[in-house]
Amino acid sequence: MEPRFSARLTDLQASPIRQILAAANRPDMISFAGGLPAGESFPSFALKVPTAILQYGPTEGDDALRECLCEDLARLGLAVSTDQIIILSGSQQGIDLVAKLFIDAGTRVALESPTYLAALQVFRFFGARLAPFTPADAGNGDLFRERPAFAYVIPTFHNPTGYCYSDAERKALARVCDREAIPVFEDDPYRDLAYDPCDRRPLCAYLRESPWIYQGSFSKTLAPGLRLGFLAASPALVPHLVRLKQAADLHSNRLSQWLVLNALKRPDREVRLAALVEAYRRKRDAFDGALHEHFSGFARWEKPQGGLFFWLHLDVPIDTRLLLDSALADGVAFMPGEPFYADHTRHATGVLRLAFSHASEAEANKGLKILSERVRRFVDGARL
Ligand SMILES: Cc1ncc(COP(=O)(O)O)c(C=O)c1O
Repeated sequence: MEPRFSARLTDLQASPIRQILAAANRPDMISFAGGLPAGESFPSFALKVPTAILQYGPTEGDDALRECLCEDLARLGLAVSTDQIIILSGSQQGIDLVAKLFIDAGTRVALESPTYLAALQVFRFFGARLAPFTPADAGNGDLFRERPAFAYVIPTFHNPTGYCYSDAERKALARVCDREAIPVFEDDPYRDLAYDPCDRRPLCAYLRESPWIYQGSFSKTLAPGLRLGFLAASPALVPHLVRLKQAADLHSNRLSQWLVLNALKRPDREVRLAALVEAYRRKRDAFDGALHEHFSGFARWEKPQGGLFFWLHLDVPIDTRLLLDSALADGVAFMPGEPFYADHTRHATGVLRLAFSHASEAEANKGLKILSERVRRFVDGARL
């Protein structure tokens, strides 16, 4: 007899990104697929661990880390008290908690389309109906006619597009959310990876009325294996989120919290971040150069001002999922664009997401050459 699984399990499709990452782990693979930070960027820790942190801890997270984050957020323009901060087991957990807070079967969730794949997966899992918008719609009065339970946004170095909202777009969206009383869920894991000057003030800092949740991550600037992120939320939401987190995992790993606190308190914190940003800026520029060499004349892209991704639009809107097997067979992993759209089953987008963070410059050039040949062959075949 088959075990009887919950009805919601039918909505949990295998994440395409995990399947691609599994293939991307082959030692000979050049991977542009996952948003993996460069391995050489990880900090080394030679610290004597206090045994006290091996005990169970508070669900909200350890106070010293929350206080440190409180100071960081004040510098960004988000004045919160320590009580408003919850440490997360990766910011992915914040997406799960916010989904549990708001979503019943059929609940409307407004989000950018395309958007972060694993957020789409979680919102769908809880039965959300997705109401897509684009940053260009931000000031549009009709934006939230369908009364979503909340709006999920990635205004700074968006995943997958790399887009960074201007201050005017941030203010316009905050104004509409305030007027319509739509809670805002701002996801901000890439904000420190800024290669050019651009507006980065959190959108939540412009809200006056609406409830909000702002979250960040230590995955991209420290190490994803620590599985640590945090959220700050308007006071009325915090007790609910704490209870949901308690039910999920009691509290986040205290060893990771302690390691992160030590990293944040290091006197060379800013110097280390500046070096990391410089290393990624060089990778981004080299990647852009390699794209010009191999994709000029049949694709377009914006050089991202920050984050980890290029969002490459082919001139011919093929279904890029169909390229994946042959690219993997040739030793190159990338993310097809289609699954990032709220309505991905319907269209071929001709867009690829390429992470420039992981491959070396030489590998990136080689991988893009192979990929461009694959694309050309596919497009020529489709024209016959
Ligand atoms: C937009 C966005 N949100 C959340 C996450 C999850 O990050 P983590 O759980 O590692 O903090 C990612 C990871 O790539 C992301 O791109």
